[in-house]
Amino acid sequence: MKQQVDDLALFGGPAAFLQPLFVGRPSIGDRSRFLERMNWALDNQWLTNGGPLLREFEERVADLAGVRNCVATCNATTALQLMYLAMGLSGEVIMPSMTFIATAHAARMVGLRPVFCDIDPATGCIDPREAEAAVTSRTSAVVGVHLYGRPSPIDELEKVTVKHGLKLAFDAAHALGCTYQGRRIGGFGTAEVFSFHATKVVNSFEGGAIVTDDDGLAQLLRSLNAFGTGAGGRTERIGTNAKMSEAAAAMGLTSLDAFDATVRHNRANHALYRSELLGVEGVSVFSFDEEESPNCQYVVVQIDEAVAGVHRDLLMQVLRAENVVPQRYFSPACHQVEPYRSECPVELPHTERMADQVLVLPTGPAVSGEDIRRVCDVVRCAVTRGRQVTERFHRRADQATASR
Ligand SMILES: Cc1ncc(COP(=O)(O)O)c(C=O)c1O
Repeated sequence: MKQQVDDLALFGGPAAFLQPLFVGRPSIGDRSRFLERMNWALDNQWLTNGGPLLREFEERVADLAGVRNCVATCNATTALQLMYLAMGLSGEVIMPSMTFIATAHAARMVGLRPVFCDIDPATGCIDPREAEAAVTSRTSAVVGVHLYGRPSPIDELEKVTVKHGLKLAFDAAHALGCTYQGRRIGGFGTAEVFSFHATKVVNSFEGGAIVTDDDGLAQLLRSLNAFGTGAGGRTERIGTNAKMSEAAAAMGLTSLDAFDATVRHNRANHALYRSELLGVEGVSVFSFDEEESPNCQYVVVQIDEAVAGVHRDLLMQVLRAENVVPQRYFSPACHQVEPYRSECPVELPHTERMADQVLVLPTGPAVSGEDIRRVCDVVRCAVTRGRQVTERFHRRADQATASR
């Protein structure tokens, strides 16, 4: 137990963990099943180009998302680019700034201008009123982000986009298996994009997918995904190579096999974090609506420095010294980094506040209840003695400067 500031590793105490405890260790599933699938691919010498493992992966993802079509890609950033292109977007695309930079960069990469709007501070997701206020004659679409797997306010966004004749799509990188009002994420807007990056709830090393009920769009996406090839293998348009390989699909399928168990584990971890940090003033744990089958792949806390007496960044240093490696997803927010900061300066107070406070703590199949109790022990000690930790840290920094 960490009782005093002296017990913290940052101030000379023993570290809580011998090995680093990371956010987002991969969910690998049954290794022997993965190797079986890889051996099968090698034996059949079918390594990419729409192989059977890829087809099976696409079918299972479509099933999980409750949609007719899934086009798997080499990563979600490219999937976003293809989705924007296939939707025929132009000019400005409104999106929240509280997201991973890929949501914005993908738009920029295909010649669109991301226009950032503020979030609802209660959910972290795009605020539909802010989205509407950002509409101009150049706007072609709104892109919602289901942040940490929390669904965007889809009904309200639909109203805004219908009213202004805009398209609607979603970056669902975090939201595999989650629902909105009981319906699976995947079937909303024109299309949605999942990520299967190694750190995600289902991983394919690197990978992504666009899911949609629009068969024509899916056909176009398949073509854009493979050099603009159309029926009969002829080149019909400009396209890229964003195909998912059989090795990635083998990993994706094996990780998918473990999905239910992973989510059960994540939910238990999330509940434990919440109970361990309950009543620690200045720390709030993002909650999920249990009715919306959250995958709980992220445990997100917000540190309110005014109450806690310690800033999120210092708490991060405290945790790092203990061998806990948290992440600041997503800080700074998109509008606070180049090129967007210079090109389209905008003030988004709710986003800026959240980006200043947010910290993602380790969870996933590799993180046990005992690990969580120890992480929370550090957080409790550092936050309940927040002012002392801050003073001590600054005093030490001042002394180090003076002795130079
Ligand atoms: C919200 C969001 N969108 C897009 C991406 C990009 O995904 P990928 O790494 O598969 O390209 C990520 C990755 O973490 C993300 O968090």
